[in-house]
Amino acid sequence: MQDLPEIVPTHIAVIMDGNGRWARSRGLPRLAGHRAGTENLRRVIEACVEFGVKYLTIYAFSTENWDRPEDEVSGLMRIFEAVFDRELAELHRQGAQLRHLGRMEGISPSMQQKIREGIEITKDNDQLILNVAFNYGGRDEIVYAIQTMLSDGVSPDEVTPELVDDYLFTAGIPDPDLVIRTSGEKRISNFLIWQSAYAEWVFPETLWPDFGREELLNAIREFSQRERRFGLVNRN
Ligand code: FPP
Repeated sequence: MQDLPEIVPTHIAVIMDGNGRWARSRGLPRLAGHRAGTENLRRVIEACVEFGVKYLTIYAFSTENWDRPEDEVSGLMRIFEAVFDRELAELHRQGAQLRHLGRMEGISPSMQQKIREGIEITKDNDQLILNVAFNYGGRDEIVYAIQTMLSDGVSPDEVTPELVDDYLFTAGIPDPDLVIRTSGEKRISNFLIWQSAYAEWVFPETLWPDFGREELLNAIREFSQRERRFGLVNRN
């Protein structure tokens, strides 16, 4: 494909920020921004399949997002359920495999059911692994990993970075190479705090509902120009 850099990240993770500001700038309610953000997600998934990205992780709802006003939380949940109903068949057709990162406890039973169904239906797909971080927090994930290790009777000398990897929600998934946060905000916000230790970050100014194929391509270009050293020195 024209203009696609030779090095495409295997795993891209995205903090989809700016839905609220996108809506406000148009005089619309915040939920209209979340709806537009959801529409946009479809475009970005299609572009990832086109570019050969193997893993896409999206930050859909954090453990902190429950503290937003109640009508925004309930509106977001309605949007998520509708998206599952509407988009699952298309995701499956594209060969995407759905995975969930986060705690199931706390999610409504009907949403839990949809997530489980989505995972089951798409489990043999391998075109794109789509990890949806939903009711997810990076610190919570590490706490959960420690709790599970302790209840499994893991002894202190057995604890290694590789073992910790195996206890995270992302077990078996390679670390993200590139993390994108849209809307110009430059914070990690409790997203993949263990897994993004060596990731490259880009912070486009574009608000999430406007972040399309071209913007994704630009982020991949920026990534491909960076020199990743993983804490080592440049040998050239
Ligand atoms: C951040 O924008 C966005 C969210 C908290 C929700 C993101 C969710 C989607 C785009 C839908 C994804 C759908 C599925 C089914 C996974 P913000 O509200 O913080 O924007 P602001 O900073 O401009 O207020």
